[in-house]
Amino acid sequence: MNMQQYFMPVRVMCGERIVSDQSRAVASFGKRILLVTGRNSAKICGALQDVEQVLKNNGQIGVLFDQVMSNPTIDCVYEGARIARQEQVDAVIAIGGGSPMDAAKAIAMLAKNDLARADLFSGHYPNGALPMIHIPTTVGTGSEVTPYAILTNEEQQTKTSMSSPDLFPKLALLDAKYLEKLPARSVIYTAVDALSHSIEGMLTKKANVFTDSMAYQAISMFSETLPALETRSFSYADLERLLRASALAGMVIANTGTSVVHTMGYSFTYFKGIDHGCANGLLLGSFLELAQRQLPERVGEIVHHLRMQHAKELTACLRGLILERPSLTEEEIDFYTRQAASSKKIQNGLVAVSADDIRRMFADAAER
Ligand SMILES: [Fe+2]
Repeated sequence: MNMQQYFMPVRVMCGERIVSDQSRAVASFGKRILLVTGRNSAKICGALQDVEQVLKNNGQIGVLFDQVMSNPTIDCVYEGARIARQEQVDAVIAIGGGSPMDAAKAIAMLAKNDLARADLFSGHYPNGALPMIHIPTTVGTGSEVTPYAILTNEEQQTKTSMSSPDLFPKLALLDAKYLEKLPARSVIYTAVDALSHSIEGMLTKKANVFTDSMAYQAISMFSETLPALETRSFSYADLERLLRASALAGMVIANTGTSVVHTMGYSFTYFKGIDHGCANGLLLGSFLELAQRQLPERVGEIVHHLRMQHAKELTACLRGLILERPSLTEEEIDFYTRQAASSKKIQNGLVAVSADDIRRMFADAAER
């Protein structure tokens, strides 16, 4: 039977001043709220101030945990959960990009589950998680609409995904004004991450008519914004389009998951400190070219929505957008290849990927 399904239980609300407009919805999350964010970005973009004002007007108490670093660690989320319990918070508001939003999910879950580190990635969280509101301040992760939290896993020397329906936020509030001070480089890298979610999602075994329709729309919106990405100058309308495309792409992977590009990209991030979206962008073109050789019709549709003729054009486009490239030794390429080839995520894809394919894609991404 060709069973198809779609599930994504997050209420998504978009628009200018959406945080203050939804103050009554925020009030319904309880008296004491843990605010999870990084050290700077939420303050610079004004989102934290808006949330604190709403909490004050509602008579709610905000407890600030602003210690989330890029690629959050397991220690970081256990510390956040310790504070959530100590302060007896009723809910969590995440403000930021993928790192604060993913950390917030792990914190919201750990606040309700006394879980050993060995069980953190099990996906079995008997007491669920504290209710969450997510406010994205980048245009890539889509974490506000996914059931995933990706953490740095020192033991496995990679990034590892927690996955459970308990990790879906209850509410996502999207306001493009929080993107206006985001550096162009961050806009580009996170937008490329969202593009990777759409394309990888379409090339997984779980892709279906529902996820395809969202992926096509997100890819078209990326393509429409390409002139702004290439000139590194964004209007409010560009930022709003990218923010919504990012949520759409998140809705795709909420059901399909990601595959080869993300699996390979985690090695670049873990070992080379390369930004997540940049890492994916270094690999996405080669992956789509490989996919086009195996699935010409399906990739033809993707390329059509990019307003391109061939996957090679995406490779050239990404080379123009992503100016940094890692230097890799043969030993590093071999090690990363072994690590990626052994990942279960590879099985999630529709594209057959051999160890030689992986090695070649890493080599193509490297400085030469
Ligand atoms: Fe991603």
